[in-house]
Amino acid sequence: MPRAWNSMTEFEEFLDGGGIVEVDDDMPDEYRDAVFRFIELHANSELMGGLTERDWIPRTPGLRHKMAVLAKTQDEIGHAHLLYMVAADMKLKTRQEMLEDLFAGRTRFHNVFHYQAKTWGDQIAIAFLVDAAALASQQAVFKNCSYGPYRRTLRRIIAEEGFHMRLGEDRMLRIAEGTDKQRSMFQESIDRWWWPSLQLFGPDSRPGDVLLRWHIKSERNEVLRDGWVQKFVPLLQSYGFTIPDPGLHYDDDAEKWIIGEIDWEPLKRTFVQGGPDSARRIGDAADNWERSSWVRDALDRVPVPA
Ligand SMILES: [Fe+2]
Ligand SMILES: [Fe+2]
Repeated sequence: MPRAWNSMTEFEEFLDGGGIVEVDDDMPDEYRDAVFRFIELHANSELMGGLTERDWIPRTPGLRHKMAVLAKTQDEIGHAHLLYMVAADMKLKTRQEMLEDLFAGRTRFHNVFHYQAKTWGDQIAIAFLVDAAALASQQAVFKNCSYGPYRRTLRRIIAEEGFHMRLGEDRMLRIAEGTDKQRSMFQESIDRWWWPSLQLFGPDSRPGDVLLRWHIKSERNEVLRDGWVQKFVPLLQSYGFTIPDPGLHYDDDAEKWIIGEIDWEPLKRTFVQGGPDSARRIGDAADNWERSSWVRDALDRVPVPA
């Protein structure tokens, strides 16, 4: 039975009491907009991430790694489509409209997919640093998410993202125990990807952030970012790698790592599709959608059993 609320206050009380909103409920427009935009951003990011992974299928060294990259590509594209379905069910845009907006640069996707992965070391840095950051963000949403369909979809996505994170750890260990050349390649990748990965969490959450107020997110961006820093600084250092942050230091009183000042300009450029690789990536995603249209057309012609 779809539910309705008489006022925003009543709706917020429902959310604060742990209430879960379902797709047919008569939710306030502001809530529908905020949840929809959040899921659309997530779906776009999964698609763009999947295409990054796909780029590496022919270039991945060795059969063992290649099989893992194939599986990860399928996972990410699958995540994108699950999320586009959940978003489309909210009846604000169709999946086709969401994809058109993405390809026209009208909607956003995560900052890390606005950069180019140039070497195998970069791919390892992405799997190790970025997948962990994405997983931490998704877990924080899943923990307390008030929108039922998104929460249920996240359960499946998070299970698969956990494998991606383990894959990243495995790749990192192998390269860390590799030759000097492999280690220096990975160090260069850490230098390139440290700051974009850290900025995946976004700027500090604003005091009135509706995503927090309406229990879509359960944790502030800066708290998630800090948790990631506390995990990855000692981990990378223990393998003899350095962090490209001259301001980084350990505070004995606070018993934690403190990072230097964050330059937010590169992140802001990705918000307006002005990242180093934004144009190529968006163009490539649009071409890919066009090239694969025959598959969708063929599937549309498959008779549905009565
Ligand atoms: Fe994913
Ligand atoms: Fe992933």
